[in-house]
Amino acid sequence: MTDTRLLPPTAEGIAEAARLLAAGGLVALPTETVYGLAGDARDDRAVARIFEAKGRPQFNPLIVHLPDLAAARRYARFDDEALRLAEAFWPGPLTLVLPLGDTPVSPLVSAGLPTVAIRVPAHPLAQQLLRAFGGPLAAPSANPSGRVSPTRPDHVLDGLSGRIEAVLDGGTCGVGVESTILAPGEPPLLLRPGGLPAEALEECLGRPLVAGGSADRPSAPGQLASHYAPEAPVRLGATEARPGESWIGFGGLGGPRNLSPSGDLVEAAANLFHFLREADREGRPIAVAPVPERGLGRAINDRLRRAAAPRP
Ligand code: TXA
Ligand code: MG
Repeated sequence: MTDTRLLPPTAEGIAEAARLLAAGGLVALPTETVYGLAGDARDDRAVARIFEAKGRPQFNPLIVHLPDLAAARRYARFDDEALRLAEAFWPGPLTLVLPLGDTPVSPLVSAGLPTVAIRVPAHPLAQQLLRAFGGPLAAPSANPSGRVSPTRPDHVLDGLSGRIEAVLDGGTCGVGVESTILAPGEPPLLLRPGGLPAEALEECLGRPLVAGGSADRPSAPGQLASHYAPEAPVRLGATEARPGESWIGFGGLGGPRNLSPSGDLVEAAANLFHFLREADREGRPIAVAPVPERGLGRAINDRLRRAAAPRP
C-alpha cells in the first residue's frame, strides 16, 4: 500500500509530481479529456506498475504523452500527413498511432508492437508537468480496469487510492471523454472515437476515415495475436529447458534468464518483453517456467499464451 497524496495545482505541486515520476512513481495527472495514470514511459518497472495498479488482465498498449510535436518526433516517425494532423490538432484530444521512432520507450508501452500511440495534451497542468518532468509519460485513463474513466480527482482516488503515489489536482476535466485515436495511412483508421470529432479529421485529410482495424493494421489488442508472437515456438509451464531450447525462468525455476528470482510479478512484467526478444534472437524454441495466475501474472500469462498460440 502507498499513501496516495493529493498535490495542489501549484509550482510546488508540479515539482513534487515530477520528482515522484523521476523516482519511478505513479502520478495521476489531469488532461483536457480524462485523468491519466502517468509513469515514465522509458522505465519498464514504472510501466509494469501502471498495469498492476489498474489490474488490467492484458498488456494493452498505452498512450505516450509529450509536451509538443518536437518532443513527439523523437519517439515516433511522422510522415507528411501525420505532421499535418499534429500541426492542426495538437495540443488537443487527438492520439496518433505511428511507427516507433529512434528514441526507445519500454516495450511494455507498445505491448511489443512496432507502433506507438502519441498524444500532446492541451491541459495547462499536463503541459507544465510534462515540461517539468522532461520525458515521455505513459498514461492510460486513471481508473481500475473495467471501470469508467475519471474526470475528477475524487474519481481517481475512489479507484486507485493506496495504489499510486499521488494525484495532481486539476479539478474537473473539460472534455470528459478520451482522445480520438487515429492511425494515419491508407486508409486512415479511426481506432477510437473521442474528444475530437472524426469530421474535423476527415476535413483535414480530405478523405473519409475507416472505423476500426484490420488483420494487418490492427486496432484492438485482441486482434494483435500475430504481433505478439516471437518467431520461435514457445512452450509454457516448463520445469526446465530441454536440450536445444532457450529458457525463461521465474522464481525458484531460475537459470540465466529469470523473470524474477524473488517471484515479484512487477519485476517479471518489466522483464518480459526484453527476455522474449532476447530468447527469440537465439533462434531456438523457448521454454518458459510457470507464472502464477494472480495480479500482473494474469497479464503476463495472457501475453505468453499469445506467444505460444499456433500461428497461421
Ligand atoms: O484521452 C486519452 O487518450 C486518455 C488520457 C489520459 O490521455 N488516455 C487513454 O489511454 O485513454 P488508454 O490507455 O485508456 O487508451 C489507450 C488506447 C488503448 O485502447 C489502445 O488500444 C490504443 O490506445 N493504443 C495504444 N497504442 C496503440 C497502438 N500502438 N496501436 C493501436 N492502438 C493503440
Ligand atoms: Mg481507458
